[in-house]
Order: sequence, then structure tokens, then C-alpha cells
Amino acid sequence: MALITGKDIIKAAKFLTQNEIVAIPTETVYGLAANALDAGAVLKIFEAKNRPHFDPLIVHIGNKADIDRYVLNVPATAQKLINAFWPGPLTLVLPKKDIIPDLLTSGLSEVAIRMPNHPLTLELLRLLSFPLAAPSANPFGYISPTTAQHVEEQLGDKIPYILDGGPANIGVESTIVRFEDEKVIVLRLGGIPVEEIAKIASEVEIQVNPNDNPVAPGQLSSHYAPRKPLYVGNIAELLDEFKDKRIGLISFGKAIYSNTSRQWNLSPDSDLHEAAKNLFRTLREADASDVDVIIARYVPDEGLGKAINDRLRRGNYKLGIRN
Ligand code: TXA
Ligand code: MG
Repeated sequence: MALITGKDIIKAAKFLTQNEIVAIPTETVYGLAANALDAGAVLKIFEAKNRPHFDPLIVHIGNKADIDRYVLNVPATAQKLINAFWPGPLTLVLPKKDIIPDLLTSGLSEVAIRMPNHPLTLELLRLLSFPLAAPSANPFGYISPTTAQHVEEQLGDKIPYILDGGPANIGVESTIVRFEDEKVIVLRLGGIPVEEIAKIASEVEIQVNPNDNPVAPGQLSSHYAPRKPLYVGNIAELLDEFKDKRIGLISFGKAIYSNTSRQWNLSPDSDLHEAAKNLFRTLREADASDVDVIIARYVPDEGLGKAINDRLRRGNYKLGIRN
């Protein structure tokens, strides 16, 4: 890898302090970070990512207590979730203070905020006098990066530094929630399973479809899509449907299939953690391979499986809106 990738948090902090953007590791996916309190720095993120301005960013903080600097109030249920899951893959959407630039929230009065669980990034955040705005470090609409190399391949010419924290541990983005009084509304399925949230909050509702929920832009159906057509469903039927093509198969569990050009298995032992961790890297490998179509099956719809299935559904050629 080129010199722009390394483990030097002092160097990363220097660029960030000069309002440059730096890619940072988190436990979910790599983020494209800049000073969240500076509209000019935030603008650079939108430009590097080619991201529409209606899609707001997440603010990353290094200490739980910092949340009070950026949001107007923290409901009791939100505080319980913070105590249980931070640092970790849970993002809270709460009414913002004026210090958060409107550009960051795309003009919304609420801001998305989380404390990531990665040692290098936590150390970096504690060195800085400001929080970091960071979307996933992929070009808009493409698969999120789970290694520094993924970032370098796609955005290496647009950013001065990539902080390399190794492969992401969780592998899917954070779960995003907002609150209606003490009721928890799940806006994006992610690294903290809904079942875990329901153990702590008395009322939880899932609203992850764009139709349900126009206030959460970014939940576009074309997200997370590989460039090659991806079909998700019954593997035997899909193998038959595409028997004249070069097929790349993404499977899960013990079953073994013939008649494919390439095969990947998200987790031969049917472990959803392992599958989440492998998902985006596998989609990238399949996309970069010489197959004509990628086929995959949904995994059991429980725990992290819900987030995995959500990403597969959004990448599914038959269902997704491709652009
Ligand atoms: O795991 C993650 O969350 C990663 C890492 C880097 O932290 N970040 C990430 O960011 O996935 P991004 O930008 O790819 O997705 C953030 C999504 C937006 O697309 C939007 O759906 C939601 O967060 N969001 C942000 N601010 C919001 C707000 N004020 N109201 C509702 N949804 C918001
Ligand atoms: Mg993203």
C-alpha cells in the first residue's frame, strides 16, 4: 500500500486539525472523517464521496459525556442505550445544538451521533478538540469499506491520509435509532441487533424503508450495491436461472453447490457474526472477479442477520433502484 496509509494518529490529527479529511477505522466500517464543527471541512467529505447534500452525516465522539455538547437533551431511554452499548455500533438521532453545522445534518434539526469502538480512533478522538463527522468511506451508493485497502482503492487519490486499524470487527454499519418520547424507532438495522435494544427499551419500532420514513435519507434502496448484478433468493433456483452464465455464489452454512465459477462462504458454521464481518469484503471480491452475475441467499433473519439481509436486499438487482 502507498504511503498515505499508516497507523500514525499524530499525523491523522494534524491533517484533521488543518480541516483536511482522513479515513478512520471503526468497528463497523471505515469512515471518511473531518472536523464536525467546521462546515468547510464537512463540505469536503460530501465532495470526496460524491454524496448528495440531502444525506446527513454521523458525528463521532470519544467520550460518552461529550454528547451533551452537541444535543439539546438525552431521553432516559437513550441514556440507557448509551450505558449499554457505547462505545459500539449504535447511533442515536437527537435534537441538535447550534454548534453542529446545518450542512452536516442536511438541514434537519436532529443530529446522528455515536461513540465508535476502535482503539486507534478513540485515541485519535481524544487527541482532538472537536468531534469527527464521518460517513462510510465509500463512493456514494457503493459497498462500504471494511479495510484500509478498500478505502485506498476507491478514494486514495482524494484524501491525504488513511489511518489503518486493520479489518473491521463488526463489518456492517451501526444501528441507527431515534426517539419519540421514550419509544425507540430503528431507522437502520446494523451492528447492535434490535433484539438487544428491546431488552433495554420498553417500546421499539422498526422503520427502515424509505416509504415509512422520509426523515432518514440515505436509506435509499440502491445502497450497498455491487456493480455486477446481484440476485438474492433461493440458490437452487438462481443456479438454474443463470446456468448459461459465469456465476459467483455467496453462500452461508454447510451446503455445497456445483455449477458455479466462483464460490464464497460468509460462514460455513452459520455464525452470523462471522458472516457480517465477511459480507462487504466478499461482495467486493465477487464484484472484482470475472463472473457475470453474483447470486446469494438471505441468512436467518435474527440478530446480526437482520442487518446482513437488509444490505443484501438493498444490493439485490431485482429489488434495488440502480443508478
Ligand atoms: O457504522 C457507521 O454508522 C458508519 C461508521 C463510519 O461510523 N457510518 C455510516 O455513515 O454508516 P453513513 O453516512 O454511511 O450513514 C449515515 C446515515 C445516513 O445515510 C442517514 O440515513 C442517517 O445516517 N442519518 C444521519 N443523520 C441523520 C439524521 N439527522 N436523521 C436521520 N438519519 C440520519
Ligand atoms: Mg454509507
